[in-house]
Amino acid sequence: MPVLEVKNIRKSFDGAQVLKGISFGLEKGKVLSIIGSSGSGKTTLLRCMNFLEHPEEGQILVNGQLLFDASRPGTLTDAQLRENRLHFGLVFQSFNLFPQYNVLDNCTLAPDLLARDKAKAEGRPFDKAAAHKANVEKAETLLARVGLGAKLKNYPCELSGGQQQRVAIARALALEPDILCFDEPTSALDPELTNEVLRVIKGLKSADTTMVIVTHEMEFARHVSDHVIFMADGVIEEEGDPEQIFTAPKSEKTRSFLAKSLEQV
Ligand SMILES: Nc1ncnc2c1ncn2[C@@H]1O[C@H](COP(=O)(O)OP(=O)(O)OP(=O)(O)O)[C@@H](O)[C@H]1O
Ligand SMILES: [Mg+2]
Repeated sequence: MPVLEVKNIRKSFDGAQVLKGISFGLEKGKVLSIIGSSGSGKTTLLRCMNFLEHPEEGQILVNGQLLFDASRPGTLTDAQLRENRLHFGLVFQSFNLFPQYNVLDNCTLAPDLLARDKAKAEGRPFDKAAAHKANVEKAETLLARVGLGAKLKNYPCELSGGQQQRVAIARALALEPDILCFDEPTSALDPELTNEVLRVIKGLKSADTTMVIVTHEMEFARHVSDHVIFMADGVIEEEGDPEQIFTAPKSEKTRSFLAKSLEQV
C-alpha cells in the first residue's frame, strides 16, 4: 500500500485553475522529485498536501486513511486538521526558524506541545519534565545527524543559511512525519551551502525517509529520486524514473524545460 495517495487534486485562485487534476502515489521509503517551470503549481500542490490550501476537488490519503476529501467540506475540526498535518513535515526555501529560540529549542518546542496535547487527548497525566527530556534526547540525535551537534545552544542568526536549513530539517523530523516535503530547500543558498543540505537529504534517503522534493537542482533530482514528476501548467505533463525523464523525455515540453534548466547551470 502506498504511504501517500494524491487523487485528482484541483485548485483555483480567483477563477484560474492552477492545479488541474493531479494524481500520484508514493511508496514508503521512496523519494519523489517534482520539477517544472515557475508558476506550474508545484508549491500549491505541496500546500494542498499539507492542508494549507483547500482544493476544490480531490482526495489525500496517508497509509490508506482518507485525510482530505473535497466532496465533504468543513467536516474536520481544528484538532483533526492539526493531527492530519502531523503526517507531513515541511521544509521551505526560507528556513522559518524561530529567531528567539536556540537550535535545540527550535527542535523541541513543537514536540513538547504535541506530547502535552496527546496526554490530554488520552486522559493521561502529563509529566512535562520527562516529556521534555525525551524530546531533547531525540532532537540532539537528529541535530547530530544533520551535522549540528556542536551548535545546540546557538541562535539562528549565528548560523549560515545551510546550517539554518539543516536545523529546519531536524525540526521537521522531530515530529516523526510519515512524509517529509521540501519546497526548493536550497534555492536561497550559495552553491557550497547547497551541497551540505543536499548531502543531508541524501543521507535521509539512505535511512528510508519518504520524501517529496520540489527542486530546481536537476542533477540532484536525477541522482536522489526514485520517481520524477514534471509539472507544466497545472498538470503532470510527464512522469517516470529519473533516468528516463532526464535522458529520454517523451514530451516536447519536458525536453524544452530540461534544455533551459541545463543552460542556466
Ligand atoms: N495565494 C494565491 N493567490 C493567488 N494566486 C496564487 C496564490 N498562490 C499561487 N498562485 C498562483 O498559482 C500559480 C502557481 O503558483 P505556484 O507558487 O504553485 O508555482 P510554482 O510552480 O511553485 O512556481 P516557482 O517555481 O516559481 O516556485 C501561479 O500563477 C501563482 O501566481
Ligand atoms: Mg514554488
